[in-house]
This record gives sequence, C-alpha cells and structure tokens, in this order.
Amino acid sequence: LSYLRQTLSLVTNPTLLSNDEIARTFPTDILEQAKFILHKIKGVGAYTDSQGSAFSRQSIAKFIERRDKIGQVDFKNVFLSNGASGSISMVLDALLFSEKDTVMIPIPQYPLYSALLTLKGATAVGYFFESKDDRWHLDSQILETAILDSLKVGKKPKAIVVINPGNPIGQLLSYEQMVDIVHFCEKYGLAILADEVYQENVYDPASEFHSFRKVVLQLQSSVPVASLNSLSKGFVGECGLRGGYAEFLNWDPEVMTVINKLASIFLCSNTVAQVALHLMVSPPLPGSPSFQLYDSEKQQILGALSRKAKLLYLSLNKMSNIQCNRIEGAMYAFPEVFLSPSACQAASALGIPPDQLYCLEALERTGIVLVPGSGFGQKAGTHHFRITNLLSEEAMQEVMGEFAGFNEEFHNRYS
Ligand SMILES: Cc1ncc(COP(=O)(O)O)c(C=O)c1O
Repeated sequence: LSYLRQTLSLVTNPTLLSNDEIARTFPTDILEQAKFILHKIKGVGAYTDSQGSAFSRQSIAKFIERRDKIGQVDFKNVFLSNGASGSISMVLDALLFSEKDTVMIPIPQYPLYSALLTLKGATAVGYFFESKDDRWHLDSQILETAILDSLKVGKKPKAIVVINPGNPIGQLLSYEQMVDIVHFCEKYGLAILADEVYQENVYDPASEFHSFRKVVLQLQSSVPVASLNSLSKGFVGECGLRGGYAEFLNWDPEVMTVINKLASIFLCSNTVAQVALHLMVSPPLPGSPSFQLYDSEKQQILGALSRKAKLLYLSLNKMSNIQCNRIEGAMYAFPEVFLSPSACQAASALGIPPDQLYCLEALERTGIVLVPGSGFGQKAGTHHFRITNLLSEEAMQEVMGEFAGFNEEFHNRYS
C-alpha cells in the first residue's frame, strides 16, 4: 500500500521531510502523519516499552473499539509482537508448564500451533472440522467429543485455539457457532486464543467477521480471550515486516504479570512494524489527499482475492476426483482429493503419505506448489492439499488449466 510505504519511508528517514521533491510529490496528509508519528515516538532506532510503544497500542485499542462497537479497550492490555507468531508463542509460554498441559487446536490447523506445543513439551487435543454440504462445519458436539477424550486420559485443556477465518480450510464461523464455543469454554474453564489474522479476508457477501472479543462481551461472559491480529494478512500483506499484536480480555492479573515478564525478556518487538501497525489501524480518512489511492489499492487487493477465491473454488470442483468446500475467508482452499488404491500403494512403496505423492508429482510435472493435507492434519483415510488464492489474476487462469491437466493425467496413471 502506497500510504503505508510512503509514511514508513519518511519515518525511517526523517531527512526526507526537508526534501523539496518529497514535499511536492507526497500527499500532504502523509507528510503530516509522518511528522505526527515522529513527534510521538522520536524515531525507530531505539528500544520501546517491552509491550510496544504506547502510541501504537493506543491506536490499536481505538481500532478494536471502532471495529466491535462494544466496551472499551485499555491499551495496557495490548502487546505488540514480531508477527502474530510472537504473540502466539508468548501466550502459550504463559499457559504451559508441563507435558500434562494441553491446548485444543483445530484439525486441520496452521502448523505453528502443533509445532509450538511440541517445542514447549505440551500436548495438543485436536478437534476436527467436518466437511458437510459444501462447507467446513464445527459444532459444540465436536468440541465435546474432543475434550471428553482428553479428560478420559487425565488431560484437562487450558485453552482452545480458534482460527477464524481459517488457515488452511478457509472457513468463516457464524455468530451462533461462536456463541456455542464461548459457552463450551465457560463449561470447561478454557481461555480462547482467537487467531483473527484473516479478519479482513471475508469473501461471502452474506457473511460477516465477528471477533471473539465482541461475542464474549455481548454474552457478558468472563471467558479470557487473547485476540491476535497481524500486518501479514488482510490487504496490507506486509508479512516481511513482522508485526502483530495480542489484545487480552478477562485474563487473571497473575497471568498478565507473567505475560509482561515474557514480553520484557526480548526487550521489544521491531519498531518499524510497530509504526506499520499504527498505520494499518489508522487509515487515511475519506476526503484526505491520500484517501482515493489508498481506497483504490485496498479495493483492488480485496476484490482480486475474492475473485480468485471464487475461481479456485469453481475450477477445483470441475476437476475429477476433487471436492472443494466454499472458500468463505482467509487465503486458501483445502480440497479433498480422492486417491486410488494404486496411488496409495505407490506412495507407500516410497515411504510417503499418498497426498504427499500427489503434491510432489504436481510440483515435478507443473511447477505448482501445493501443501499436502498431512502437513495440517486431516481425518484418517482422507487426503487433501492446500492451495492459495495469492497468485496474480492473470496467472491463476493459466495455472488452474495446467493443474487440471496434471490432475487428469495423475488419476489416469494410477487408475
Ligand atoms: C492462522 C495464522 N496465524 C498466524 C500466522 C502468523 O502470521 P505472522 O506473519 O503475523 O506471524 C499465520 C501465517 O500464515 C496464519 O496463517
């Protein structure tokens, strides 16, 4: 986004502010924004508070209040991190102490969660999204089954991770499903790790993103929620800047003390991303000189993602032996591919899972990179792959054609 990059360039190199050419060519509100930021934080070369600069945290607190239209956010409960990944790791560090400690995670899941739990010596209890009527489905019965299995072996989960909209399955939870999850957490005393990094990436015009914070406040629930957001997704897509945050609601003060200590171990998160987070949540206002370009870039990015999600869904469902659920949000599809016994035998002879054989062959024959479903977890006996809608629109048509050719040829060869 021009707004973000232009402002960051001035903030990281303030001498540009006295350059005549810049003064003539940059929109005046961007020059003002950069001066305002520099007045607030002085520069990006020093450590900030361990939680992140109060300035950026205050902007984030205001953004959350505007988004949810309920309750106030104390910026002291906002922690900035190097990507949402930093916040996720910190929250898990605060919650997990021994191998008896357990967290519920979705299956299929973004592998950061299972990897971190393994690294921290804790265990994961998977709850399985079900593929039903062209959608990925979750209900409290699925959660109950998962937790009861865990309790039977003496493991009581401390928290549940909910990724919404989801990576890798692209689902978007309805308000009613979220209410059910909050009630489930009340029943079993769980905190919610609400991974909401794809909150801007919603494709179904009839659906809406709801934050867990909002649902918990509307239910007047005391369930603790850590809400995660990131610079990496949405329409900002600045994943290399490594900026993210967690906002804490209803957490025990003792846990917050531990989280504060954990944040201070690493001094602070990177400062350029802290400024970028402020910019992400403080876009140009309608009528300001930079608004038109900002808005057209934003609409172009979100519009293209949405068109490509639809193209992906339609193209995949035309291919033989593939079934793809609706892509409601995020940046992915997670279709099921029905593999023949002979494909499964060929994979077993190579000592790899069948979906890995499919993905490796797709790579070797077409150069298309897919991620095997076994990397995210899937129901036993089923095979999936993850594919993104991040290619350019021009490339997407051609790539889907090539992929359809590969898929046909693969199934014929292993028929
Ligand atoms: C669901 C989910 N959570 C967290 C992350 C990490 O994002 P970040 O770049 O902010 O660390 C990703 C990245 O792909 C993701 O898909």
